[in-house]
Amino acid sequence: MKTILLIHGANLNLLGKRDPRHYGNLNLKQLENLVKKEAKSCGLKVKSFQSNHEGALIDYIQKNSPKADGIIINAGAFTHSSYALHDALLDAHLPTIEVHLSDVKNRENWRSKSVIEPACRQVIGGEKEKSYYKAVAVLKEIID
Ligand code: DQA
Repeated sequence: MKTILLIHGANLNLLGKRDPRHYGNLNLKQLENLVKKEAKSCGLKVKSFQSNHEGALIDYIQKNSPKADGIIINAGAFTHSSYALHDALLDAHLPTIEVHLSDVKNRENWRSKSVIEPACRQVIGGEKEKSYYKAVAVLKEIID
């Protein structure tokens, strides 16, 4: 079975307590479980990881990408600033989908810029957990 890495960055451990208008009501475990269920129905396995630390995210990608087939990443605010994360994704040589729960293009200006986007095949956002389901479907198409 093909494996997808589901990676969450800064502050996403607080899902369920963050502004529900932007991020919905699910906590991180619930969100991860729904994505795992969706992926399983497509014949894909999900390995999940969250950290508030940029270096820990990079270490995780370096260590786990050789045994994986694709990445879904919501890097939180690192999306907008981490060139190091961009490079780690590039060096992973895996099809990667950037996802967001909220509509980052229609919030504060600084959120509309993603520095990891050039390392990703597609950016999907603004649809809460549905953004992730779409990312699973896109990866499924690419991987199969
Ligand atoms: C987010 C959007 C980011 O701008 C923000 O910093 C987050 C979550 C989202 O899922 O909408 O932490 O990535």
